[in-house]
Amino acid sequence: MAYLKWHIEILKTLILTLLLLFVLLIYAVNRDVAILEDVLNTEFCGTINPMDDASEFALLGKKLFKANCATCHNKNMKDRLTGPPLMNAVKDWAAYPKDDLYRWINNPMKLIADGHPRATELWNEWGPSEMTAFPNLTEVEIDAIFEYVDLMSN
Ligand code: HEC
Repeated sequence: MAYLKWHIEILKTLILTLLLLFVLLIYAVNRDVAILEDVLNTEFCGTINPMDDASEFALLGKKLFKANCATCHNKNMKDRLTGPPLMNAVKDWAAYPKDDLYRWINNPMKLIADGHPRATELWNEWGPSEMTAFPNLTEVEIDAIFEYVDLMSN
């Protein structure tokens, strides 16, 4: 009988120890998850997301530049090709309404025909080389292209 009692005591201790270990394990895992969540939250709300958005936008610009502009405008943004380098393009148009640069990309020859001062300057230097018109590029897409141009110009 005493032998059996002793046996049950050991079993009880064992089960209690296991229970304790289990509780400790759950606590540790929970704490790790909480710490991990904290880290992820600060990074997503703080620095990572805005950076991601900016580079996504520049990436869209890169795609559009390669597909539409790279045949004539050097992708180093500094050297001449069929057309002028684009590193100073935004500055060159800064004296005019912002719309003018969009209108230029959408239909360059129209701006030249209208006698726009910057368009006339360009034509005097680069004509009769004609820039292709891109009537389908939206303002957001053009902004993305110049975001990429800006990134490549530094
Ligand atoms: C077929 C060649 C060609 C393609 C394609 C082309 N361009 Fe041009 N681009 C020119 C030429 C040539 C000029 C100089 C003006 C002229 O002669 O029409 C120019 C001028 C410009 C200017 C004026 C630069 C300044 O400093 O004022 C901008 C801005 C510009 N291009 C942007 C673009 C963008 C953005 C694309 C793509 C969506 C593009 N171009 C595609 C040939 C091209």
